[in-house]
Amino acid sequence: MDHDVKDLSLAEAGKLKMEWADRDMPVLRQIRERFAATKPLKGARIAACLHVTSETGNLVRTLIAGGAETALCASNPLSTQDDVAASLAVHYGARVYAKKGEDNDTYYKHIYQSLDIKPTVTMDDGADLVTAIHTKRQDLAAGVKGGTEETTTGVIRLRSMEREKVLKYPVIAINDALTKHFFDNRYGTGQSTIDGILRSTNCLFAGAQVAVVGYGWCGRGVAMRAHGMGSSVIIVEVDPLRALEAVMDGYRVMPLAEAARVADIFVTVTGNRSCVRAEHFAVMKDGAIVANSGHFNVELDLESLAAMSRGRRTIRPFVEEFALEDGRRIYVLGEGRLINLSAAEGHPAAVMDMSFANQALSVERLLHGDALEKKVYAVPRDIDEEVARLKLAALNVKIDTLTEAQREYLASWKLGT
Ligand code: ADE
Repeated sequence: MDHDVKDLSLAEAGKLKMEWADRDMPVLRQIRERFAATKPLKGARIAACLHVTSETGNLVRTLIAGGAETALCASNPLSTQDDVAASLAVHYGARVYAKKGEDNDTYYKHIYQSLDIKPTVTMDDGADLVTAIHTKRQDLAAGVKGGTEETTTGVIRLRSMEREKVLKYPVIAINDALTKHFFDNRYGTGQSTIDGILRSTNCLFAGAQVAVVGYGWCGRGVAMRAHGMGSSVIIVEVDPLRALEAVMDGYRVMPLAEAARVADIFVTVTGNRSCVRAEHFAVMKDGAIVANSGHFNVELDLESLAAMSRGRRTIRPFVEEFALEDGRRIYVLGEGRLINLSAAEGHPAAVMDMSFANQALSVERLLHGDALEKKVYAVPRDIDEEVARLKLAALNVKIDTLTEAQREYLASWKLGT
């Protein structure tokens, strides 16, 4: 199969890594077994732009087991696990175009190479494939039956396309499934962001002042885990409801201009650009650590930081020191790219299990369900509930069911006190 990966000799290590992740992906595994028996994706050509990790490897294996042809490229230049990319090419017959540390030109070259498969389905994490098809490869749009989108940032871009009536095919917003954002965004980002900061810096969270910029599902997870490790957590928000929630969750809430003076560690998880700017860097303490865990590397204004600095050097892998004119030093992690995937391994397999089960089942529905309009759709409720049911069963957790009397009570408006 055509591919562009770093080193095919890493394939054996990648295969073992996928096998390890698969232990914690029982829901996706069951879907893969069913797909292998019934081939519901036969004839589909799926272009996927995802973080190339062992969990994604297991999703790609599932799509191939279902009969699809696949082409995979990275959704971030720093998140690729080269051994997994090699194994997918060598052992599973996937077209793979991804190398950890690829430059911007290569990143886009890989996106266009994966589109050469002439996809009938696109699978995105950040909407770069959809955007490429709507700009440079419009010739492909008519052949695409539908797409899926993994993350908040991508869903925001797609909704903007839908509003402007330019979206050329339906897309299912995987991110909006409850079995996705309740677990992946909150517990996945929460744990893996701390993991990335620890692996790159080995800093102590106990007693540290940690500013979390953005209190969406990801921010809630990061704050919860930092608090659990003994940090004093500050939340920075622009949304009054989320800010109020953070107050009642027990955190200090303040503008970044104030937090910038006191925090030791900053984490952005907003999905917006230029959140930490020159005026914030200007008042940070000597030694402040700044990381981003939002999808794109736009949340930190690193150009301004570079302009304010008299020198910069890489002091450890994924840690760059910026020396300011007045002698203060600021440490930026992973080039401002999402730290959980650049310096660590991304979310644990146990949460990706549910996210990718939603992906696989949604692709099946796109191919075999009712025709959809050129809009952004929620994951069908029955898929969301099925994923939760399968996960509970795999965890050996049993739950109650309503009695007949309770069902009647809920259905009736006549029964009161
Ligand atoms: N996004 C966050 N963590 C991930 C992982 N482990 N694999 C794929 N995509 C991810």
